[in-house]
Amino acid sequence: MSDRFNRLSHKTYTSVPAEAVSFDLDTNNVSDHVQYAIEDDGNSSRVDLLALDGKEILRHSDVAPIPEIHWSIDRMDDAYSRRLGFDVLAWLDNLSDPDKEQILLELGPGNGAFKNEVDERITGYKTFGVCDKLYYPLTTLIGKIVDFEKLEKATGEVLSGTERELFCNFLYKILVIKEGQSHLDQFEYDQDVQIDLASNINQLPSWLESKAPLLTEVTCIPDHISGRDNEGNVCYPYKIQRPEKESFQKIYRAFSAYPNTYFRTELGDLYQALDIYPDNIFFAHFSDLNRLKDEQVDVMIGARSSVYVQGEAYIQFMTEMTKKLQDNGIHVDDSIRDNDGWCYRLAELQKVQEASGIPIYVVLGPPLEREDFCQDDIVPLSAVISKDPQKREVLRSSLCENSQLIPLDEIIADKGYLKKLDRTGKVINSLHD
Ligand SMILES: C[S@@+](CC[C@H](N)C(=O)[O-])C[C@H]1O[C@@H](n2cnc3c(N)ncnc32)[C@H](O)[C@@H]1O
Repeated sequence: MSDRFNRLSHKTYTSVPAEAVSFDLDTNNVSDHVQYAIEDDGNSSRVDLLALDGKEILRHSDVAPIPEIHWSIDRMDDAYSRRLGFDVLAWLDNLSDPDKEQILLELGPGNGAFKNEVDERITGYKTFGVCDKLYYPLTTLIGKIVDFEKLEKATGEVLSGTERELFCNFLYKILVIKEGQSHLDQFEYDQDVQIDLASNINQLPSWLESKAPLLTEVTCIPDHISGRDNEGNVCYPYKIQRPEKESFQKIYRAFSAYPNTYFRTELGDLYQALDIYPDNIFFAHFSDLNRLKDEQVDVMIGARSSVYVQGEAYIQFMTEMTKKLQDNGIHVDDSIRDNDGWCYRLAELQKVQEASGIPIYVVLGPPLEREDFCQDDIVPLSAVISKDPQKREVLRSSLCENSQLIPLDEIIADKGYLKKLDRTGKVINSLHD
């Protein structure tokens, strides 16, 4: 079994009554320490990140299970580097300054795994994360609940680590997808399960119990990698087949017949077993981040997070974020890849560049397999926003193989390249607007 799958959450956290604190940056009715982080600058109240340092407060409503099967919420260094197009930990390490602790703000940290990795492996940063909720993976939680040793003893069969992961993946998909739809390219989620688990994860064992009999019926589930239909809507053409192997089938049958015999009971409150890293995470909608104090962030990172802000709101948000950077700060963000690489937000970022007066560069690199429409040339992976040429040079020295850093304007001027990228025609059309 891989380390990652085996990893238990070391974190415990304080859950406080919902009425006690609001982290929505609303100055009404907030508890003392949040009040302390809020400075009244005369016109509006701004939140000082450093004043929030170490105030780890979480309510049950601040955490939720992953809402979509194609979402990844626990990517770490490797996945961030692949998506951003440069070795992100090496870059942070090279950027760190022994004389000054820098503020790193991650937009949308998922379950906080990457932020936690930075805390553990890189020095010189005070890290923060901002998100609407802390999302946790369900497969790893299911892996903690299922007593595989007992199952194996009862059946006389042994599953490898990968097979255990596959078993949990089947259970997870059967749990969240509406009965009878697991084989479809476009399916519905079981809303009762989604709503119930989001409100109380301690309901998970009873949902597993009621869905487990489906295990013997369902022979294929969708892979988490999604595709796009002709209109660009998410669909799931890639499938995972249930292994034919008799040992696997035996385990499936045993579990589906008497699921609760094979639950670990010693886990207690499942909120304590979640894979989440809540240190210095604060909760706010991205549109509320204008309330952050200006010029306090040295490094800002967004991976598959600000991409969810759409249209005009995206331009406003990214422009607003430039104000949160220190004068020589830097923001790297993969939201340039819209719709998983079906179009690229070159026109939107050009407007951010104009509005902020800060040059934007783009990391071009190899497309993500089964994601970007263009698979035979390098594609825009991330935007690099900084006034400081030296910061850009440090990033250039950490670029992944076959990646390059070039000015946004140069890409926009290369009409032949744009045509190649532009499956939907949206990129070129929006540049003409
Ligand atoms: C798909 S997850 C990506 C998580 C993580 N960066 C990763 O790659 O593993 C999207 C993240 O963006 C955050 N997010 C999306 N839209 C948001 C919004 N409007 N306001 C605050 N957070 C948002 C979610 O909370 C979540 O952390």
